[in-house]
Parts: sequence; structure tokens; C-alpha cells
Amino acid sequence: MPIVPSTQDAIERAAGILRAGGLVGFPTETVYGLGADATQGRAVAAIFEAKGRPSFNPLIVHVADATAAFRLGRFGPLAKQLAERFWPGPLTLVVPRTPSCPVADFATAGLSTIALRVPAHRVAQSLLAFAGVPIAAPSANRSGHVSATWAAHVEADLGARVAVVLDGGPTQFGLESTVVEASGERAVLLRPGAITAAQLAAVAGHPLLRAADGHAQPVSPGQLLSHYAPQARVRLHATHVEPGEALLAFGPAPLPASGPVFNLSCSGDLLEAAANLFAGLRQLDQPGTAMIAVMPISSSGLGEAINDRLLRAERR
Ligand code: TXA
Ligand code: MG
Repeated sequence: MPIVPSTQDAIERAAGILRAGGLVGFPTETVYGLGADATQGRAVAAIFEAKGRPSFNPLIVHVADATAAFRLGRFGPLAKQLAERFWPGPLTLVVPRTPSCPVADFATAGLSTIALRVPAHRVAQSLLAFAGVPIAAPSANRSGHVSATWAAHVEADLGARVAVVLDGGPTQFGLESTVVEASGERAVLLRPGAITAAQLAAVAGHPLLRAADGHAQPVSPGQLLSHYAPQARVRLHATHVEPGEALLAFGPAPLPASGPVFNLSCSGDLLEAAANLFAGLRQLDQPGTAMIAVMPISSSGLGEAINDRLLRAERR
């Protein structure tokens, strides 16, 4: 599968592949997506096949702007407010499908709701413009693996299963979008992500409810799965490193270690740590490594999403 620079020409060709029912890897501001024309059931089915993803786990549908989103989903005042403030950007809103929504049922796993997002990335936006269709795209990794934040990760995970990968360099946030259920009057946080709960609460005017506390029906199906898992085991809140362990460090004082070390951010910056998280896990996850020790990371702000992904890696 070729990785190609994201020139206008290459993006236009990739849009042609999408319209013809093929799969395209493309960068967003969060992670790389594995895209298909959301209105073609067969193309969407190919995404599940390529990822080895359970078919009950619905996909995010990407559109160019809020106007396009309003045609696919029913937006009440809360959803509209969040869309206005955070789009384009790393926020996914779950709302009821409109009766005329042309998205294939397979993409929403037969649910009456749809997850919509307007990406803030030049290449993703240009691909949407050339394709002229909504693009269903999960993260471009094999199901159960950590998300791809470099084009090379897409190739390593999916190989010939995808026709082309548009290279946009390392992604900006490095963590997936925040998923919020916004059908009612209270916003429910289904997946912590690149936009923090505090940022959302400030706009919603109330603290977010948590799916973890039983506030969403159904909960985000993807959150039930063991996701984000490297091959090696993961040990969190490490205060020392055992012989033979690799170390995922954080901050200016990494623990003493004799094996491989990856520091997420030497200055202890959460934004930098998020951007490096999946690449760091992939780098340390070598065949000889049985355990990755992870130093404690503050769970405030963006730290909530970082710790969410690390917990999933530990619990797989
Ligand atoms: O940043 C991102 O969100 C990336 C980029 C490519 O946009 N995409 C991504 O997609 O992370 P994926 O498929 O790996 O995660 C989508 C999440 C899953 O947890 C899924 O269960 C949830 O969104 N989801 C999708 N549709 C839903 C729905 N109708 N109701 C509840 N949860 C939904
Ligand atoms: Mg994913």
C-alpha cells in the first residue's frame, strides 16, 4: 500500500478511490482515520473487515461542516451549541439520525443515533470536499491495537488492506476525539479525548454526566472493548522499574531504568504527552519486552483521556 504525500493531486485521486468504494487512510488533527464513503454499505463493511472490528461497534461519520452534519443528525439546542463552539475540531457528537440520513446502517451499527465530527485538518477537509460524501472513519489501526498517529503506523497495522495512505506527518493531538452524547438536555461524556470535560462543561453550562455512571443508553459500544492494547503488559503508577521492564516516563525526573525508555514529555506537559502517547507505546512494545512500566500522570484536563487510554491498555 503506498504512503503518498498529501498533494492536491493525491487527495483528489484518494477521493476517487473513496467514491469507487475503496478504503483510504488519511490524517486528522487527532489520529489517522481509515475512511470509506459512509453511504455505501459495502465500502463500510470493508472497514470492519480490514480492522477486524466487531460489527456492533459503530463508526464516526466525518463531514465538512455543521450544515452537512445537520442533514444527517437531529441537533437540539445543546448539540448545536457544542457544534458551534468546537467544530471544526476534535469533538464527536452523538445525536439521533434524521429520517432522510443516507448513511449506511452498517456505519451506525443499526443504532438510531449517529456519531458526527467535523475534522480540523487541511487534508481531511480537502478529502471531504473532493469526495462530496460523508466519510465513515474509525482510527486506522487493527481492532484492539493503539491508534495510528503516523502514516507508517497505518501501514504497519493494515498493509495491503488499504488502497492508499495520505501522509500528513505526525498528528497534532495524538489522542482520539472526545465523544459526547448530546441528544437531550444534559451532555454525557462517552469517551474522554482531545477536548477536556472542563472545556465542554464551560460551554454546556453544566458538568458532564459520565457514561461510566450509567448515564447513557446504550453506552458507546467501543468503550466496552479492550482497546489501545500493546502486546506487552502495562503496569501503571510505577514508582520503580523492575529489571527487564521498559519505561514509559513522564516529566523531568524519569525513574532509573536499565531497559528501553520513552519519555512522553520531559517538561511534564500534558499536551505533548498526549501527542506522543501511542507512538511511545508502539516504540516500547517490542517482542523482547514483557512489561511496560508507566510513571504516574496527572489526571486533570487532558490527563483524563491519557489515563483512560492507559487503563484500557492495562486491562486488556
Ligand atoms: O479522533 C477520532 O475520533 C478518530 C478520527 C479518525 O476521527 N476516530 C475514532 O474512531 O477514534 P473509532 O471508531 O476508533 O472510535 C469511535 C467511537 C467508538 O468508541 C464507538 O463506539 C463510538 O465512537 N460511537 C460511534 N457511533 C456511536 C453511537 N451512535 N453511539 C455511541 N457511541 C458511538
Ligand atoms: Mg479506534
